[in-house]
Amino acid sequence: VQETLVLVKPDGVARNLTGEILRRIEAKGYQLVDIRLVEADRDLLGNHYEEHVGKPFYEPLVEFMESGPVVAMRVAGNRVIEGFRTLAGTTDPTTAAPGTIRGDLGRDWGLAVQQNLVHGSDSPESAERELALWFPAS
Ligand code: GTP
Ligand code: MG
Repeated sequence: VQETLVLVKPDGVARNLTGEILRRIEAKGYQLVDIRLVEADRDLLGNHYEEHVGKPFYEPLVEFMESGPVVAMRVAGNRVIEGFRTLAGTTDPTTAAPGTIRGDLGRDWGLAVQQNLVHGSDSPESAERELALWFPAS
């Protein structure tokens, strides 16, 4: 069965939306396999966001992700990678469709699209790589 990495980003944890986000994942029918609260360091974040190294938003993105705890979840189900990204909605919470996590719960707080509540792996290769980073023991 397919697995993905879901992160509740620091804005989602700070706004006490972890339960609401997990509720949506469970209500959709996906299975929570593992969960941990992580204070991510630069090493982990640099690996996690390696595709964005050098982009103008990379440094602010890493600072944001270091700004508070993140909830990492291992989530399983057929086509869960695609399914969770559909639940999450598009990157920009201002225009993400209503009904999605970002569309219903997110907005622009002054940093455009940075504070968009969640991350979900975007391919099987990313999921495998990211799960190994955030769940090193399992
Ligand atoms: P993730 O699931 O977090 O990977 O989101 P995504 O796949 O929808 O977006 P992408 O991988 O392109 O970007 C990763 C994250 O960087 C986004 O979720 C945002 O938090 C942030 N980000 C992306 N583009 C911008 C940008 O133009 N400006 C800023 N400030 N942040 C950005
Ligand atoms: Mg991405």
